[in-house]
Amino acid sequence: MHILHVVGARPNFMKAAPVLRALKSRGVRQSLVHTGQHYDRNMSDVFFTQLAIPEPDWNLGVGSGSHARQTAEVMTAFEPVVLEAKPDVLLVYGDVNSTVAAALVCAKLGVRVGHVEAGLRSFDRAMPEEINRMVTDRLADFLFTPSEDGDINLKNEGVAPEKIHRVGNVMIDSLLQLLPAAMQVPKNGLPDRYALVTLHRPSNVDDSDALKSILSSLLEVSEHLPVVFPVHPRTRQRIVDLAIGDFALNAATLRLVDPLPYIEFLALERGAAVIITDSGGIQEETTFLQIPCLTLRSNTERPITVSMGTNVLVGQDREKLRSELTKIYAGEAKPGVIPPLWDGHAAERIADVLLRF
Ligand code: UD1
Repeated sequence: MHILHVVGARPNFMKAAPVLRALKSRGVRQSLVHTGQHYDRNMSDVFFTQLAIPEPDWNLGVGSGSHARQTAEVMTAFEPVVLEAKPDVLLVYGDVNSTVAAALVCAKLGVRVGHVEAGLRSFDRAMPEEINRMVTDRLADFLFTPSEDGDINLKNEGVAPEKIHRVGNVMIDSLLQLLPAAMQVPKNGLPDRYALVTLHRPSNVDDSDALKSILSSLLEVSEHLPVVFPVHPRTRQRIVDLAIGDFALNAATLRLVDPLPYIEFLALERGAAVIITDSGGIQEETTFLQIPCLTLRSNTERPITVSMGTNVLVGQDREKLRSELTKIYAGEAKPGVIPPLWDGHAAERIADVLLRF
């Protein structure tokens, strides 16, 4: 059996790494394609190194662009690769544009598609990732879900139950593997208590009023806790575009830093008093690490992080953010438990399903 993996953007890398490892240890032939959706060293290469992902067999060099252009360029460049590689199964990860583009190409070429992190739904079609998730799941033959809500969503959409495999959360496989390394990262002048922030959703950063409002909330937070903010290139670009650079960047209390490598970011997550984010994966990592997470979104495709974990959705409601932070400052953060199958072995379960096939 020949398995072709496609990755493209930062959140794909930590999901693919354990699956590549699990299949390698079972002696399966595999190839890897990097679409090049993320291309900065600190958004891509450093993750390959830290996660010990092999050098890609193909790099499509697609880069940035509108959604249509980026998706179309991945498809155009990927089709000849599939024709040459003749894989038996394509594995795609998460919900980025590279995920849906690769799935579409293989579905049309009659190559079976496996989707890792299937079944997640925010039920918000204004999110580009929601469209990517829905379409990829529609096309997939193997749907690997991280939690029961994923199974329920897929069954409600009419997916045949035999295609659904609840394997658990592959992100947690990588987290557990690299947590010992994260624990060795020096504190580098970091205070004992701090808030960690990440922000890149179009709904928060593309709208200047929304972004300004969040930045002033962060300045309020910084009156209580130092704020460490690794800035995604998209967000940095918006801050500059909107000419509000002075407002945020000159605020000595907000530590704006470049995007961090996986291990260094994990170290920061583990030590944070609270994480304020609009990321998907960080909602899961904080639930696993039992760190309070305030999510700047009104919905989540990862509801188990709210029902079982430490996550609270605050949307763009500044009052709610304030009141949740007040609880956290007082040591009364929402407690949470780790969901079933978030145990470091999800990738092995994926490999076993594929080998049974
Ligand atoms: C993508 C994913 C999102 C994921 C995020 C994680 C889609 C639809 N979105 O969003 O789900 O949470 O990655 O980071 O696939 N840029 C750089 N260097 C890079 C990559 C991007 O400077 O290496 C800049 C470019 O200006 C680019 C912008 O960031 O236009 C956005 O990049 P893009 O890949 O289109 O989407 P993300 O916002 O990163």
